[in-house]
Amino acid sequence: MINPIYSPTENRYDNGMKYRRSGKSGILLPEISLGFWHNFGDVDTFANSLKKVEFAFDHGITSFDLANNYGPSYGSGEETFGQIMKKSFMPYRDEMFISTKAGHDMWPGPYGDWGSRKYLMSSINQSLKRMNLEYVDIFYSHRFDPVTPLEETLQALIDIVHQGKALYVGLSKYPKEAAEFAYKYLADRDVHCLLYQGRYNLLDRDIETNGIIRQAYKNGTGFVSFSPLAQGLLTDRYLNGIPQDSRIARGLLTKTTLTDEVVKKIKGLNEIAIRRGQSLAEMSLAWLLKDEMVTSVIVGASSVEQLQNNITGIQNTTFTQEELNEINKILS
Ligand SMILES: NC(=O)c1ccc[n+]([C@@H]2O[C@H](COP(=O)([O-])OP(=O)(O)OC[C@H]3O[C@@H](n4cnc5c(N)ncnc54)[C@H](OP(=O)(O)O)[C@@H]3O)[C@@H](O)[C@H]2O)c1
Repeated sequence: MINPIYSPTENRYDNGMKYRRSGKSGILLPEISLGFWHNFGDVDTFANSLKKVEFAFDHGITSFDLANNYGPSYGSGEETFGQIMKKSFMPYRDEMFISTKAGHDMWPGPYGDWGSRKYLMSSINQSLKRMNLEYVDIFYSHRFDPVTPLEETLQALIDIVHQGKALYVGLSKYPKEAAEFAYKYLADRDVHCLLYQGRYNLLDRDIETNGIIRQAYKNGTGFVSFSPLAQGLLTDRYLNGIPQDSRIARGLLTKTTLTDEVVKKIKGLNEIAIRRGQSLAEMSLAWLLKDEMVTSVIVGASSVEQLQNNITGIQNTTFTQEELNEINKILS
């Protein structure tokens, strides 16, 4: 049977999703964004990918996070997104905030990795083609390149904006000093850095201690957390072993991350989640969103059910001091 033409739910902006301003900017992002790193490649089922994106949009998720090499295979996350755009979302393009990135390994040879102008310029052109888009809302430098002069990378970002291929620019995983330089370089050329994207979850709190999140906040740059569920560790997936269909079983996350210490921590955290009437995934997202410096959390999801559960997590983001102390004790 041919799938019926998608028609989003009318109450999608009145369905529980909340929106936060991205630093000092005109952009509001949903507290939950949907990421395409895994689960949307050509190894995954298109019908499932389509269902997840439609479900997300129906629940107020307007922000979709991609990168040139998401898949597997490289590029196929964007291709899937492009097919989804064509099939269901062309009439809704202006309601969507779509990102892509370049900076990691993408194609062979000296021009398909890191931060050269050559790589970024070619990559954005490829990404737009794969995604069936005329422009992305934000283009990120995916990682700091310690060898290429930072000015070269940043100027390429600026020129991509000037060419109309991206509306905003962002940085991902930049060390603090490089981020400081970049924020100023961009601002001096009237291109504000809209978002910083960094790993932040209950098991990885580096950006708190190294000051990255506060630095972004001070600069008026929003902060989006990637891997907010530590790739699934902060969910019920691994409380009792390794499920057959999980990211670890599929070889997308190394088994060594699931140490006895991690299992002890997630079991302890799960006890608190149960008392709060939340799943571990819900509590883990709520814990991030209790902080006003976090603009959005980018979740991955292998099913609509997971996405549904993650959306529920934003309903209660208030923690008692006692709960926070208990969480800190478990994690220490
Ligand atoms: N800037 C960067 O360098 C960078 C790096 C990494 C990620 N990202 C972005 O961040 C996004 C999210 O990263 P991530 O996929 O690692 O995020 P994540 O949300 O921490 O992990 C997603 C995985 O957690 C499991 N899961 C999610 N919700 C669940 C629920 N409610 N109950 C049980 N299990 C649940 C699923 O595992 P199973 O597959 O096992 O079911 C899912 O694949 C990426 O798609 C990408 O857009 C950016």
